[in-house]
Amino acid sequence: MVRQIYLAPSILSADFSALGVAVQEAEAAGADLIHVDVMDGLFVPNLTVGPLVVEALRRVTRLPLDVHLMIERPERYVEVFARAGATRLTVHPEASIHLHRTLQQIHALGLKAGVALNPATSEELLRYVLPALDEVLVMTVNPGFGGQNFIPEMLPKIRRVRRMLDEAGSAAALAVDGGINQETAPLVVAAGADTLVAGFAIFGATAGVTQSLARLREVVL
Ligand code: DX5
Ligand code: ZN
Repeated sequence: MVRQIYLAPSILSADFSALGVAVQEAEAAGADLIHVDVMDGLFVPNLTVGPLVVEALRRVTRLPLDVHLMIERPERYVEVFARAGATRLTVHPEASIHLHRTLQQIHALGLKAGVALNPATSEELLRYVLPALDEVLVMTVNPGFGGQNFIPEMLPKIRRVRRMLDEAGSAAALAVDGGINQETAPLVVAAGADTLVAGFAIFGATAGVTQSLARLREVVL
């Protein structure tokens, strides 16, 4: 089955002193959405950006803003990110005790809702929130940093999530995040992923954003 593949550059590896320019370049080069990694120094060891940056990006691109919340109790910030202009909020079940309620909260504000699974988190919990899901994000690294190596053991998990979504007739996106590059992209697409988040391979490569995005597109066509 030929599935449309969406590319989501993650700004984590972009030049933050010229973030708007980097995002506009990605948009012009054919990116489908912009992935924003929000980290709180608790759920993950790293600290990154918050709603102010989402708001600033909302002004420079028309692309959907895909906000990946790697923060404890993300329900506290759903409203603030909605106001900032996020299109989709993805939360971790490990960080949100009442996951179902958090997803409802996201939908109630008119946003799309996603669930991200750490490498050691089972996909089984998805069964219980499936109707409330617009996206499943399978982490293919341990969240916290850009430029880490892809964990190949996640391939069977991607296949299992694909099967689960198909069997349920769910139209949720199946995204992967971490270590996606020209070598790993074809593997995750063959396993059933349709949305590829990539930071280092797009914003960190010497080839530049436009060429790196084109190369990634080429290998998954
Ligand atoms: C990792 C983040 C990713 C990160 C991916 O915690 O969630 O979105 O930017 O970076 P790469 O593509 O460099 O592995
Ligand atoms: Zn991410």
